[in-house]
Amino acid sequence: MHFAPLFALFAQLAAVVFVEALPVTLPELKAADILALKPYARLAAITYCPINQIKQWTCAKCKDEPFDLIASGGNGATVQNWFVGWDKSLKKLIVAYEGTVPTAPASVITDLKFTPKPLRRDLFPDAPADAMTHNGFGDAHAASAKDVLRAVKAGMGKYKTKSVTVVGHSLGAGIAIIESGQLAAQIPGAKIETIAFSSPRVGNPAFAKYVSSRAKITRINNMSDPVPELPGRTLLKSPNNFVHAGQEIHVTSEGKYVKCPTESENPQCTNGYLITMTDLESLKSFQELFAHPKKLWNPLQHQGPFADISIFC
Ligand SMILES: *[C@@H]1O[C@H](CO)[C@@H](O)[C@H](O)[C@H]1NC(C)=O
Repeated sequence: MHFAPLFALFAQLAAVVFVEALPVTLPELKAADILALKPYARLAAITYCPINQIKQWTCAKCKDEPFDLIASGGNGATVQNWFVGWDKSLKKLIVAYEGTVPTAPASVITDLKFTPKPLRRDLFPDAPADAMTHNGFGDAHAASAKDVLRAVKAGMGKYKTKSVTVVGHSLGAGIAIIESGQLAAQIPGAKIETIAFSSPRVGNPAFAKYVSSRAKITRINNMSDPVPELPGRTLLKSPNNFVHAGQEIHVTSEGKYVKCPTESENPQCTNGYLITMTDLESLKSFQELFAHPKKLWNPLQHQGPFADISIFC
């Protein structure tokens, strides 16, 4: 009997098939699915408007998004702008958060404090003790958490819905992901959907697991935008290392949106396309950087456009 060599042969064949099978062609979003992202991109963009324009719904992009505002707040500086209301064309209750200063998103995110911090008991009564967020993101979320929760509860009553959609871009996407966990923790039976454009990594694996099991999170990243690669995965040691939560959609070229398999950190989407922090650490020279098979960072791609909507007021 020659099982052992046969087995080895099979193993080799399997390895060949596996290698040949990579990169797997990922499914692409159809034109209608891309178009469906448009209102969310517009809402994320509107968060960057001066708060008075949001309160009166008078901004340029506001006109294309009929909306009943329930509450809004923030000051665009120490507290990110936010608003809650009913989107009349989507027929959905929306929570939206403003992101970072558009001109220097990467620097703002890397300047935030990296100390991991457990979720606050008063905001997340059901969170496991080992679920951590980057304390800059956690604090940015906590700054408006109680006001937003009050507005969401009012909206659920007024529009008789259990569904809430949380949107944001950049730091605002990070806050949206944290808020998704909070809404699920505070409102039993709530159905939470999260649309996060250009989100940085928000927390550790226990946080990602916690929030992914409570909300349907979709992250949409444009081409070589570096923000989804920040903070780097190896910056902090396990179990406090940063990882993404939810499903990624990556824009790989003009108008081409690919859907990643559902794991939070898939090697095929942004991780396989863009030079990662780990790739940078293993470089020996600048020549290697410029000859790298993966793409260089391009912060200009942080604002999209997504579905033709550029993410600024
Ligand atoms: C992504 O970024 C590039 C470069 O800024 C831009 O041309 C493109 O329109 C963006 N979005 C999409 C959906 O391709």
